Amino acid sequence: MEINAIYEGDNLEVMSKFPDNSVDLIYADPPFFTNANYEVIWHDKAEIRSFKDRWEGGIEHYITWMEPRVRECYRVLKDTGAMYLHCDYHADAHLRILMDKIFGENHFLNEIIWSYKGGGSGKDRFGRRHDTIFYYSKGKKHIFNDDNIRIPYLSAEGRDTKYAWGHHKGIDKEYKPNPKGKIPEDVWEIAPINSMSKERLGYPTQKPVELLERVVNASSDKTSIVLDPFCGCGTTLVASQKLQRKWIGIDISPTACKLMHKRLKKEFSIDAQLIRGEVDLKYVKKLAPFEFQNWVVVDKFLGTISKTKSGDMGIDGLTPQITGGFPIQVKQSESIGRNPIDNFETAIRRANKNKGYFVAYSFGKGAYEGVAEAKNNRGIEITLRTVQDLLDGKIE
Ligand SMILES: C[S@@+](CC[C@H](N)C(=O)[O-])C[C@H]1O[C@@H](n2cnc3c(N)ncnc32)[C@H](O)[C@@H]1O
Repeated sequence: MEINAIYEGDNLEVMSKFPDNSVDLIYADPPFFTNANYEVIWHDKAEIRSFKDRWEGGIEHYITWMEPRVRECYRVLKDTGAMYLHCDYHADAHLRILMDKIFGENHFLNEIIWSYKGGGSGKDRFGRRHDTIFYYSKGKKHIFNDDNIRIPYLSAEGRDTKYAWGHHKGIDKEYKPNPKGKIPEDVWEIAPINSMSKERLGYPTQKPVELLERVVNASSDKTSIVLDPFCGCGTTLVASQKLQRKWIGIDISPTACKLMHKRLKKEFSIDAQLIRGEVDLKYVKKLAPFEFQNWVVVDKFLGTISKTKSGDMGIDGLTPQITGGFPIQVKQSESIGRNPIDNFETAIRRANKNKGYFVAYSFGKGAYEGVAEAKNNRGIEITLRTVQDLLDGKIE
């Protein structure tokens, strides 16, 4: 297990290689059960990033997917460690039961409500403006640095609550408030990342560093190792680095891993270790559509992604200008037939090129016929490449 490292891969697989009792704190913010695809266009280069909830089989399917991951978290956690599981109304009831099952009801510490403001609510209900973070300890004792996280004795309305508390208890005279402030309650009012936030990276589920700083500060020491198995754009890593903790981040998305690597470099001038599992057919088949596109076009052809998703005329990317800037089309499908090849040929001609690359898992007879006809009759050269070709280094 490497420290201060970003692991790219499925956290179940990555964690299975970690020893028992090896990390002090886990913060996990898994993709929620929304049955939704969030796709976002980043930067002016319009690189398309995809964040996808990968299950469509209902809540049981989701919990079945989560269970072995939470079990791995439990196994790698030290006996003095704690885990925070971030979720929302979509799955919180189910995840609470799962956490009780794995950690034990008596190890439940808090149900933290992260309350945030924001526009938009249904006409027939109250605005949904909070997430839930379950906080569990593994063993009987756990790290809780109360002094690290104290806040002023003020209510939301700005009243000094230490007097109200003292009066309420009828011990005004004896009550000695802690000069460092009070331990926060379990409702945390922390501003979410919005379009104006300085730390905003454009990632749809990015959490504020302030939220993670409270978690890391409360539940780890400077000698601690903090693990985030669903690391996204690396907010936990940033908070841990800021507070001088050791950290490990895992994310299945190559795009997310590259982004957090860049973020750590920018904020702390550190060149974090980026550890990638074996890139094989199994790995490629798990990639979301835009990750697949990035892998083929950027990683393999060293090219550039097409600027727009729709209206791209069947062109997903271009080979580097130095090698001709030829169109690349990618399809996560088997047995590509004649039609997609004919359409790609049209796209190549519209782009005023005479050559292009088509990448898929496999091609049928019709595809080869289309390629031969395009070459013989119209001088358009289409190279068919399977994913296995690319894995074997057969690119151009
Ligand atoms: C809700 S986001 C995390 C956001 C993060 N807390 C932040 O502040 O940026 C969930 C992340 O889990 C990742 N993910 C989904 N399935 C995964 C898996 N099996 N292993 C590792 N990461 C996974 C997604 O790529 C996504 O980046």
